[in-house]
Amino acid sequence: MSLDALGRPLRDLRISVTDRCNFRCTYCMPRETYGRDFEFLRRDEVMSFEEIARLAQLFAKLGVEKIRLTGGEPLLRRDIEALVEMLAHVKGIRDLTMTTNGSLLTREKARALKDAGLNRISISLDSLDDDVFRAMNDVNFPVGRVLDAIDAANEAQLWPIKIDMVVKRGVNENSVVDMASHFRGTGHIVRFIEYMDVGTTNGWRMEDVVPSREVVERIAAAWPIDPLNSNYFGEVAERYRYRDGAGEFGIISSVTQPFCGSCTRARLTADGKLYLCLFATEGHDLLGLLRRRATDEEIVDEIRSVWRVRDDRYSEIRSGETAGLQKVEMSRIGG
Ligand code: GTP
Ligand code: 5AD
Ligand code: SF4
Ligand code: SF4
Repeated sequence: MSLDALGRPLRDLRISVTDRCNFRCTYCMPRETYGRDFEFLRRDEVMSFEEIARLAQLFAKLGVEKIRLTGGEPLLRRDIEALVEMLAHVKGIRDLTMTTNGSLLTREKARALKDAGLNRISISLDSLDDDVFRAMNDVNFPVGRVLDAIDAANEAQLWPIKIDMVVKRGVNENSVVDMASHFRGTGHIVRFIEYMDVGTTNGWRMEDVVPSREVVERIAAAWPIDPLNSNYFGEVAERYRYRDGAGEFGIISSVTQPFCGSCTRARLTADGKLYLCLFATEGHDLLGLLRRRATDEEIVDEIRSVWRVRDDRYSEIRSGETAGLQKVEMSRIGG
């Protein structure tokens, strides 16, 4: 087991397979920055499936048990199910999942992902109000098609399906109870996420954050709820159940109640850089190492030595001083 400088094991690997996305969510890829001239990674800079699978195997040797595929939008990568199949065969990986905006998740795709070995899926959806959602994704994408994607995931039994909603003050806070209501009793788990100061381009302000406590109060005013224990050490979401048996929801409070103490997550960008924190300013170039024909042992040693000195805990020390850092963007590091 690899422990970092704060005693945290390396358990979780999040792999961004592309820095591109077909949405322009205002909190993630604002149009002013991600316009026509924005330079995304070139094809030759992006890891091939073989390169990803090799790194994943080496991470698994160091204790990684869970892999989440992210982007940008991971389904923009053609034939992503081929990668899923490769990762599903990596020894030691017990949980293989993906975070997607759902726009490309057809029935066929959902089935292909399941057949390839994807265990479950998380789909982002910020509101059930079509106008609000179209404005937030900023590409005029309708709610109905994300709901279709959720149905497709359900038919393919990619369970439990999690629905991620970033809550922004004055934008979609009034959608909280609607979302809870819509997904109660479906078996899907909505998670309300505090809007975070990831990257430098989204114009984040503390005033725009809706503290999770408020989300819980709104839901508790509509239905009786009880807190639930975590499913596993270091679970990011705090869980609640509806007392009437209609299932559960979660809150992710990285701003008001940081959870760095149990952060077991490493992140790999599409160009193969290892980041130790969602709010890091720099990564460690593993793809470069791999392409210079490093041996498995050399790469494992590099990851182990980088992890050993890891002392990141950005959310716990967030302040005026950390505000000016040149942090990596969410669409590159993958959330
Ligand atoms: P499960 O495996 O379903 O428990 O979820 P997960 O732990 O893989 O978390 P997921 O990626 O679904 O997290 C949802 C959201 O929580 C992300 O999109 C981020 O916004 C936030 N989040 C996840 N991990 C971290 C983290 O390490 N730090 C911070 N600050 N936020 C995180
Ligand atoms: N704050 C919180 N969550 C964010 N995401 C993207 N940007 C932010 C942000 N600034 C979330 C999206 C999606 C996942 C990929 O990351 O909701 O669910
Ligand atoms: Fe794309 Fe997801 Fe970012 Fe929205 S939050 S722009 S869907 S990567
Ligand atoms: Fe982990 Fe960094 Fe998030 Fe803290 S802020 S939980 S260290 S990724």
